[in-house]
Amino acid sequence: MFKSLSSRISFLVFSIVISFNLVLMTIFYLALEKKSKEHFKKSIDTITNSIPNYYQIPLWNLDTKVIMEITEAFLKDKTIKGIQVIDIDSSILYQKFSDGDNATSLFNTPLIEIRKIPIIHTNSNSLGIIQVFFSSKNYHDENRAIILRMITVFSLFSFLIVFALYYILNNFLRNPLVILLKAIASTEKTQYSVRIHQNFPAELGQIATEFNKAMEKVQESENKLLSQNQNLEYLVSERTHQLDEQRAQMINSSRLASLGEFSAGISHEINNPLAVIHGNSRILLNHINSGKLDRQFEGPISKIKLMTERIQKIIKNLRTFARDGEKDEKQLFEIAKFIDEIHLLAKVKLDKSQIAFEFLNLSSLTHLYGQEVPLSQVIINLINNSADAISEQNEKWVKVSIEKDNHSAVIKITDSGHGIPATIQTKMMNPFFTTKEVGKGTGLGLSISLGIIKNHGGEFYYNKEAKNTQFIIKLPINEHLSQAI
Ligand SMILES: Nc1ncnc2c1ncn2[C@@H]1O[C@H](COP(=O)(O)OP(=O)(O)O)[C@@H](O)[C@H]1O
Ligand SMILES: [Mg+2]
Repeated sequence: MFKSLSSRISFLVFSIVISFNLVLMTIFYLALEKKSKEHFKKSIDTITNSIPNYYQIPLWNLDTKVIMEITEAFLKDKTIKGIQVIDIDSSILYQKFSDGDNATSLFNTPLIEIRKIPIIHTNSNSLGIIQVFFSSKNYHDENRAIILRMITVFSLFSFLIVFALYYILNNFLRNPLVILLKAIASTEKTQYSVRIHQNFPAELGQIATEFNKAMEKVQESENKLLSQNQNLEYLVSERTHQLDEQRAQMINSSRLASLGEFSAGISHEINNPLAVIHGNSRILLNHINSGKLDRQFEGPISKIKLMTERIQKIIKNLRTFARDGEKDEKQLFEIAKFIDEIHLLAKVKLDKSQIAFEFLNLSSLTHLYGQEVPLSQVIINLINNSADAISEQNEKWVKVSIEKDNHSAVIKITDSGHGIPATIQTKMMNPFFTTKEVGKGTGLGLSISLGIIKNHGGEFYYNKEAKNTQFIIKLPINEHLSQAI
């Protein structure tokens, strides 16, 4: 019921005031009673003393009329409730009571004091007794009325004081405290932007100002911490990414190095016998031309010569491709040759899964500018990814096209797949991300490709809009390339 501070204080003050009031009124009442008792006694004595003077003569004369008149006169006094005039034979000569009382009822009424006043003649003969019924009820009633009035006034006054106090406490103490409390509570939910804008009186105002200052500081350091945190998070992710890229680059380089060594060894081993086969097939062809050998062998021997030339070419390309061309100079190179060589290297894998390959140059470009080997690695990577993705499909094809827009040469690598799931799209450019089984995928292809294209100042991205699975490479057209067009 008394939950708020102001109502509790008000109730306390109210209780104190009321108790004080009651104590005060009791003391006052007792004093008043004492005073009126004395007053009552005094007036009884005065009346008692005066009574013989009034009744002496009429009693002597037995003048009933005068006795009646005197009695009536005395009864006008409110303290006198009844008078009995008793003669010497103890018989009642005359009696009169106010307010319809009688002697019996008055005997049993509280606050009644009875005085028997003997009336004696001057010759010392007794004339009779006047019995007077005094009542102090009037005094009591008066006292009570006074006290009641005082209590009423005092209580009204206390109520007024308490209401005023409640109002003051509520407005100047409780409301500010509630606002302060709310503000403090809101900081629990880390709402440090909260401020107290109201003007509070005295110390409360100071508390509010201090609170605002404290919040200002907390917010400042919170913001600082937040930005430091963000910075740190950014730095960590940036650094992790860099490290991943470096690791990927390293692995790629060492992979290429061992592949390079391996293919150099193999090509050396193959090239020698191949040179012998090639040389001998040429000799045989010469024999056919000079008529030493029958013409029917010309077809097969030409084929052997052509095939050995093709093998030589593949080996040469393999050696080139299996080399880390990162430090190669950028230069103009011919698109047709570039695509031919890529196709030659990718053919084995494409043919194995019976995947059709198509190249379309839809631009006026005949040359591209950049590091030929790394760029061919990018496209072979993409063709390999396509071949992995679609090998089990019914419809199997990979298309490479070159277009030109205002500022760049646009190379699109599209396969017959139906797009890459969004969950993979977001991660696939990260180094080491792969969905392929262990030993098959390294997760390096796309991230290395991205690095190579960035190194060319170009763009490399997955095209979400395309109907099939499509990656786009944009290489900027610079002054070198413009000259070639
Ligand atoms: N043409 C594509 N079709 C479907 N998924 C692809 C294609 N190209 C790349 N991906 C997905 O991207 C992942 C990462 O590719 P990549 O970086 O080349 O690493 P890896 O080929 O070793 O897995 C692949 O594992 C595959 O899930
Ligand atoms: Mg790959």
